[in-house]
Amino acid sequence: MDVRQVKALVTGGASGLGEATVRAIVEAGGKAGIVDMDRERAEKLSAELAPSAAFAVADVTSEQDIDRAVIELKDALGGLNAVVNCAGIGGSVKIMGKDGLMSMERFNRWLQINLAGTFNVIRGTLETLTENPPNEEGERGVYVNTASIAAFDGQVGQVGYSSSKGGVVSMTLTLAREFATNGIRVMAILPGIMNTPMLSRLPDHVRARLGDQVPFPPRLGNPAEFGKLARHIIENPYLNGEFIRLDGALRMGWARK
Ligand SMILES: NC(=O)c1ccc[n+]([C@@H]2O[C@H](COP(=O)([O-])OP(=O)(O)OC[C@H]3O[C@@H](n4cnc5c(N)ncnc54)[C@H](O)[C@@H]3O)[C@@H](O)[C@H]2O)c1
Repeated sequence: MDVRQVKALVTGGASGLGEATVRAIVEAGGKAGIVDMDRERAEKLSAELAPSAAFAVADVTSEQDIDRAVIELKDALGGLNAVVNCAGIGGSVKIMGKDGLMSMERFNRWLQINLAGTFNVIRGTLETLTENPPNEEGERGVYVNTASIAAFDGQVGQVGYSSSKGGVVSMTLTLAREFATNGIRVMAILPGIMNTPMLSRLPDHVRARLGDQVPFPPRLGNPAEFGKLARHIIENPYLNGEFIRLDGALRMGWARK
């Protein structure tokens, strides 16, 4: 898909990897619609990039919010042909942790936002993408979902997070097959350790140690590197039904304390 024709809905588009994706698309001549719960950041970024960006405040776990956001952004951008799902939450809690047994509410929060939220946005945008006229390749749209290397290299305390991201990986081929006759592709990116606000709660020395574990380049990932990959996936029609690790060859291990 020619990036200059792209009208992308980007969830979590107000911060971190989503924001970098919005910037990568707009810098290349496309348009982006930010879907985020953070009104202040979404509004600010949208104003900076106007008229190539718009925003809608929505919670990805709410059907009504997403249905409304799709109508608003379709109207503002003049259609939608790409969706990048970046909204998500991190965090780490052991099942038998210092605050007692993990509640089902805590576990379900990861699944609700990271996994069901991704599905909800796909559900809410699919009809719109399907109604697009096909381009010369027969393509009508593309989904780029964000999983994590934790889907495969889950660390102690990440049972909820890694399960939610494993689900995002697993839906990739299933949906690519389901949408093949509609000319819609589905891909997933598995970031390693990226330097976004999600990681800003960690002390500097911990972030430096994490960066040191990366074979090459030995540093945290730059959100712009995610934006570049998301843009490439949108542009390259032969990428479909696959997931790509973006991690500088990092494979997280396990050590007995
Ligand atoms: N930063 C990393 O190292 C890393 C690594 C692997 C995967 N990821 C994944 O990348 C994605 C983006 O992470 P980030 O680092 O950019 O985080 P971030 O916190 O900078 O941005 C996440 C954005 O999602 C929004 N959001 C959260 N819950 C939402 C909801 N229910 N509805 C709508 N918006 C919501 C937040 O307001 C925020 O703007 C997440 O899915 C995360 O799990 C991040």
